[in-house]
Amino acid sequence: MHNKLANSHSPSKPYMAGQVIPVRELHAGHREEILQHLLALGDEDRRLRFGTQTPDEVIHHYVEQLDFNKDAVFGIFNADLRLIGMAHLAYLPEIQGQARAAEFGVSVLPEGRAQGLGTALLNRSAVHSRNSNIQILYVHCLANNKAMMHLAQKAGMSVEYAYGDADAYLKLPPANPATIVEEAANEQWADFDYALKENLKLANQAWWWFLGRPNVAR
Ligand SMILES: CC(C)(COP(=O)(O)OP(=O)(O)OC[C@H]1O[C@@H](n2cnc3c(N)ncnc32)[C@H](O)[C@@H]1OP(=O)(O)O)[C@@H](O)C(=O)NCCC(=O)NCCS
Repeated sequence: MHNKLANSHSPSKPYMAGQVIPVRELHAGHREEILQHLLALGDEDRRLRFGTQTPDEVIHHYVEQLDFNKDAVFGIFNADLRLIGMAHLAYLPEIQGQARAAEFGVSVLPEGRAQGLGTALLNRSAVHSRNSNIQILYVHCLANNKAMMHLAQKAGMSVEYAYGDADAYLKLPPANPATIVEEAANEQWADFDYALKENLKLANQAWWWFLGRPNVAR
């Protein structure tokens, strides 16, 4: 199968605003946004994301335990600066003689779906993995997760099915100057996009205040 992510050695037009979705790397200061994002997922989405029924307490614990020094977490913010999509790239323990691997988990809120956000998070995680010397990217999910399966196959991942679960994996080539530039450019573009949305939000609030209208959050 054509391995789109692994064979991509040139930047995927990271400077073209409007075509490249800005993906930010998140840090410990984003814990609250991450928590609100995951709590906003319905029961079925939580099951698809974590592979099992996931009550609020488990999500609280998961977010508290996120280690931003060890793993990488990526996010996409909408115009209201709401975290609409996020991905957790968890580095698996190194085993001598085996390829270095990371596991990818992703969620996009229903209102943001089918616009390429999941794909952008997967692309960014694959490039980051290559730049971090990761050789294999895994996605573990339920075999009936059609959207994730489609996304994985579109990215050229190989999929193995067993007992209702599916393991998709992608062998990644080493980093090269293009992957380093691609990631840096996307990060810069995402910072710029965030600052722009932040200023627009503040400007809107100022206008509402000036015009004496209530500032109703959308
Ligand atoms: C999986 C998920 C992250 C996809 O996010 P997204 O932003 O909609 O992803 P994209 O828009 O980049 O791509 C989705 C693709 O799946 C396709 N798709 C969506 N639902 C589908 C379905 N039921 N059957 C087949 N394909 C489907 C879309 O058409 C799109 O394909 P295209 O790009 O070729 O048109 C999102 O559905 C989600 O958060 N699901 C709940 C959590 C989850 O399942 N996480 C994955 C396990 S870790």
